[in-house]
Amino acid sequence: MIDIHSHILPGLDDGAYDLDEALLMARQAVSCGIHTLIATPHHMNGRFYNSCVQIVQYVKTFQDQLDDYNIPLRVIAGQEIRIYPQLLEELSSGVLSSLGNSRYVLLELPPDRIPTVTEKIVKDLIQSNRVPIIAHPERNREIIESPEKLLKLVDHGALSQITAHSLLGSYGKTIMQLSLRMCRSGLAHFIASDAHDTAKSGFALDKAYGVIQAKLGEGAVRSLQHNAWCVIQDVAITAEHPVWVKPKWFRVWKAYKI
Ligand SMILES: [Fe+2]
Repeated sequence: MIDIHSHILPGLDDGAYDLDEALLMARQAVSCGIHTLIATPHHMNGRFYNSCVQIVQYVKTFQDQLDDYNIPLRVIAGQEIRIYPQLLEELSSGVLSSLGNSRYVLLELPPDRIPTVTEKIVKDLIQSNRVPIIAHPERNREIIESPEKLLKLVDHGALSQITAHSLLGSYGKTIMQLSLRMCRSGLAHFIASDAHDTAKSGFALDKAYGVIQAKLGEGAVRSLQHNAWCVIQDVAITAEHPVWVKPKWFRVWKAYKI
């Protein structure tokens, strides 16, 4: 499996604290079936600033360490970029990085809102032949309250990445059900670990794909895994037009009303 979002690099953000923990995380990733992962340290989220030059150096050093320990994991440099107005200019000037130098850029929203500049940034990225991937929209308060707001961003060309632990219920029932509904609605193009450690936020990609297989079938798993492959190969993803599936209670209520 390929994991497009993780915080495995030691000491850069709130992910792996040191090399020992990073190696433990790498072993856990391999044991759950991951062979390639993109390291995406936080950038510009108010706590962490990690330039792409620094991340590339860290990835190189960490890959050498993995090879020394015979851990069969390939690590690719990426960045989880909090949305801010100068994002596009800084991407063009080389301060920011896409995922593995591909067309795909991992964007993080603040947890409580969608900044007004988001729609413009999505459109500008698409116009510059890049593809924004919205990281864990199912954990954004404004999207939880109005999932149609994600639909609008996807309509503009953004893709969306659900976190494995959201599907497993680690963030509560509401987020778990919303995540599944996003998958059913064509509003989830990737499942990724967003792993920060080996415990509560560990790699659980195999279990999350197990949920997708049980609820949506093997075809959905294959499609999501193919999309992750497209990112590391820098190949275009053909996404179906999303159609928001209303919650079951809403459908029953509407039928009763009619
Ligand atoms: Fe993350």
